[in-house]
Amino acid sequence: MATSEQVKALIRSHYEGDSERFVTVALQIAAHEAKAGHASVARDIRSYVDRAKRRHGILPGVNVNPDLSEMLLQTRPVEHLSDLIVHEKLRDRLARILEEYRHRQRLKQHGMTNRRRILLAGAPGTGKTMTAGAIACEVGLPLNTVLMHKLVTKFMGETAAKLGQVFGLIQEEPGIYLFDEFDAIGTQRGREHEVGEMRRVLNSFLQFIEKDESESMIIAATNTFAVLDTALFRRFDDVLYYDLPDNDQRAQLIRNRLGKFLRKDLKIENLAAAADSLSHAEITRACDDAIKQVLLTSRRRKTVSKQLLVDMLEHRREIYSKNRG
Ligand SMILES: Nc1ncnc2c1ncn2[C@@H]1O[C@H](COP(=O)(O)OP(=O)(O)O)[C@@H](O)[C@H]1O
Ligand SMILES: [Mg+2]
Repeated sequence: MATSEQVKALIRSHYEGDSERFVTVALQIAAHEAKAGHASVARDIRSYVDRAKRRHGILPGVNVNPDLSEMLLQTRPVEHLSDLIVHEKLRDRLARILEEYRHRQRLKQHGMTNRRRILLAGAPGTGKTMTAGAIACEVGLPLNTVLMHKLVTKFMGETAAKLGQVFGLIQEEPGIYLFDEFDAIGTQRGREHEVGEMRRVLNSFLQFIEKDESESMIIAATNTFAVLDTALFRRFDDVLYYDLPDNDQRAQLIRNRLGKFLRKDLKIENLAAAADSLSHAEITRACDDAIKQVLLTSRRRKTVSKQLLVDMLEHRREIYSKNRG
């Protein structure tokens, strides 16, 4: 049994929010139990600690700041790459990334590394975030999204150090790491000292990815491609460009999204024009709006009419143009 001192220390550290102390005491108890011949109790305690550390993205041995978990969002996406509607060339390049990942050991034997540091660039709502999720799903790894903005604003002055911790995790815990809205450090304008900070962060990011030799995949996504520093591109193994959907892609997107709600006689091709200049995300939302409308109002035929879809697309376009000022 743990001593009463240990139990008291454990309770105190919990209520004081001192997670490092808590872990230390828990491990002391494990050692104590092991010595007393209770090997399985000791093993259980150690495994709880290990699991909690992994869940919170805390690295053993690193001077842990619990705030790191605030900047990282771990998910297990379910979309597949086949759900992504992009032009042929882009699809091939994505397939190549997966192919190289799957055969990374074979490549390694010949001194080659798989493409694993990828920059995604293009208009908002064209599937960049979705791509990172689909890659994670295809290779069966968790998606860890690094919230760039939090990283920069919350840790003003120590962002480079925080970034170092994130890269420590990238090394330690294989996964897909998405630096989403990468523009937050690439381009953001702000107060004078913030601009300087962004520069520093960007430079350390570049150094970190240059040095990274982990099993993880690092994906950065940006909407404001044109303004990004060209020094950035050279550090990535691949740069993929995302465009607004063309007529065929718009039709395919509507067909996929409406699914069973698609009225059989609906000629999507004639309608894709109403979706002109809208992004994949906007069209997806218009389809969802139309489905909801049908579900809530129509009693008999629960399918989407041409007029309804055109209305919803127009509505999206209005919102979109207002947003653009
Ligand atoms: N190329 C695409 N193919 C299919 N659906 C898409 C595509 N792009 C966006 N979407 C839909 O819009 C949503 C938001 O897109 P997202 O990946 O966040 O865009 P981005 O990161 O480029 O701004 C996705 O979850 C998906 O439902
Ligand atoms: Mg995105």
